[in-house]
Amino acid sequence: MTYARIAGIGSYLPEKVLSNADLEEMMDTSDEWIRERTGIKRRHIAADDETTASIALNAAQRAMEMAGVTADELDLIVVGTCTPDKVIPAAACIVQRRLGSVGCPAVDINAACSGFIYGLDYANRYLRTGGGKTALVIGAETLSRITNWDDRTTAVLFGDGAGAAVLQASDKPGILATHIHSNGEYEDLLQTRNGVSLGFDASCTPGAYIEMNGNAVFKRAVATFDSMARETVADLDGHLEDIDWFIPHQANMRIITAAAKKLGMPMERVIATVDEHANTSAASIPLAMDLAVREGRIKRGDKILMAAFGAGFTWGSAMLEF
Ligand code: ACO
Repeated sequence: MTYARIAGIGSYLPEKVLSNADLEEMMDTSDEWIRERTGIKRRHIAADDETTASIALNAAQRAMEMAGVTADELDLIVVGTCTPDKVIPAAACIVQRRLGSVGCPAVDINAACSGFIYGLDYANRYLRTGGGKTALVIGAETLSRITNWDDRTTAVLFGDGAGAAVLQASDKPGILATHIHSNGEYEDLLQTRNGVSLGFDASCTPGAYIEMNGNAVFKRAVATFDSMARETVADLDGHLEDIDWFIPHQANMRIITAAAKKLGMPMERVIATVDEHANTSAASIPLAMDLAVREGRIKRGDKILMAAFGAGFTWGSAMLEF
């Protein structure tokens, strides 16, 4: 049996940090409100000369270094992002060129916050069916570029960052199951009102910025984390107790805590980095995993359940042995 196994993981956070205190200077908000409602303390913001592809590249290089893989060994590059550098070409192609990789397929997936899980699903199927031996899956976002800094209800929630995983075909267990879903019925609850085909209408406020119905998103997110975690575990005839680590999408500490509680998952087994990174969309899960691996919390052989939820709505989970 061939598995897609994580051979290396890496991440990158821009140097600039925006704390809640900094936001207090910029808008009518408070550190207390942000921490109480979201658990977020600070977020990283890309420098002017940084883009989604450039931060994705930094994360990819770290993952490739851990995996001991060179650019010419890559058979697939997938970037999960909803903030690509350009409409065309894909951020994945820009990363490919900068890595010095030539010829393998390179593609972006826009599944908003679920982009990394969608990428894992794609790479898992690709490697298991003999499409290649090595895949690079990245989640990278510069959400600060679509954040409306005049809207305190969304501006405090997001950050920039990138995380990456190198997957290799292996006879040792790796990804055990993935499930991905979407339901476009919820388009209006979390969106940018403008876009490419709709047009960038400068007179339309708030333009191509993130808009969200926070309360509705909150409720759907908690319910969906619960159902998708159960779906994945049931598919493997397993039990939630078998999971060593739960890595949910890092949107909000209250969503993470509520989802863990519903699943009966003790917080000691939940990886949470939203306090330090805020919501980095598709980057949040690989960023959180990289931190936990490098801190020595997640070890080889540990069973990990990842679950994401984002605009669309999209959602997805992956169960794997590290
Ligand atoms: N600072 C101070 N006050 C604020 C701020 C702010 N940044 N933002 C809103 N408020 C005020 C509101 O104006 C409102 O004031 P009012 O009562 O006088 O009208 C009050 O705080 C309460 O607002 P609510 O929207 O009801 O606050 P709520 O407790 O629902 O928290 C939040 C809002 C944090 C957005 C919450 O709904 C949430 O976490 N939603 C989940 C959405 C999310 O995380 N989305 C991320 C993208 S999707 C994803 O990644 C899954």
